[in-house]
Amino acid sequence: MNKVTVTDHPLIQHKLTLMRKQNTGSKDFRELLTEITMLMGYEVTKDLPLGDVEIETPVAKMTAKELTGKKLAIVPILRAGIGMVDGLINLIPAAKVGHIGLYRDPETLQPVEYYCKLPQDIGEREVLLVDPMLATGGSSVAAIQLLREKGAKNIRMVNLVAAPEGIAEVHKVYPDVDIYVAAVDERLNEHKYIVPGLGDAGDRLFGTK
Ligand code: PRP
Ligand code: URA
Repeated sequence: MNKVTVTDHPLIQHKLTLMRKQNTGSKDFRELLTEITMLMGYEVTKDLPLGDVEIETPVAKMTAKELTGKKLAIVPILRAGIGMVDGLINLIPAAKVGHIGLYRDPETLQPVEYYCKLPQDIGEREVLLVDPMLATGGSSVAAIQLLREKGAKNIRMVNLVAAPEGIAEVHKVYPDVDIYVAAVDERLNEHKYIVPGLGDAGDRLFGTK
């Protein structure tokens, strides 16, 4: 069953409030998203396995810890997911980055795929699927389906703001995908926007509206 982890650290909540404000411009919005993603990365990577390694410090030999588990892939859902890549790749520089292009058709509200380029060894990697907004869950379910078709087995999602409806949808279709989110908001409105949310994440990131 999905584990939903709400990363409600005070710094994350404060920065998210700044992002939600309608007068926050694209530059600040981008910087805040990177900072929050980096802070969320601490929680998202908390259970990565460690092994022992023998090293020498300038003072003595010691048995130290290093990461030993599967390598990671960061996969943003375009466009808005791009805004969450820097924060994670700064923490995990060895991760590879795949891209999945989806947009929500304004009429049908169904996800439309237009791009998919993933690391060849995606099946061997732990995947962090990133998108600031989890609204109806349609885009996330489509992205997870694509990843599964390409061989990805272990997927966790990292979102900034989720609607209960979106979490329930991912939960229903992919009960084994864990979700990390900074806030779970009240609901979706009649246009399937998250309420109170922060508006259109892609437009706010890239200044397209
Ligand atoms: C937004 C958002 C998610 C999707 C969420 O992208 O970044 O990908 O909507 O909605 P859903 O859960 O109902 O599918 P959008 O389709 O606006 O595309 P964009 O990132 O290119 O602006
Ligand atoms: N996509 C967004 O960018 N915002 C929402 O609230 C819903 C979907």
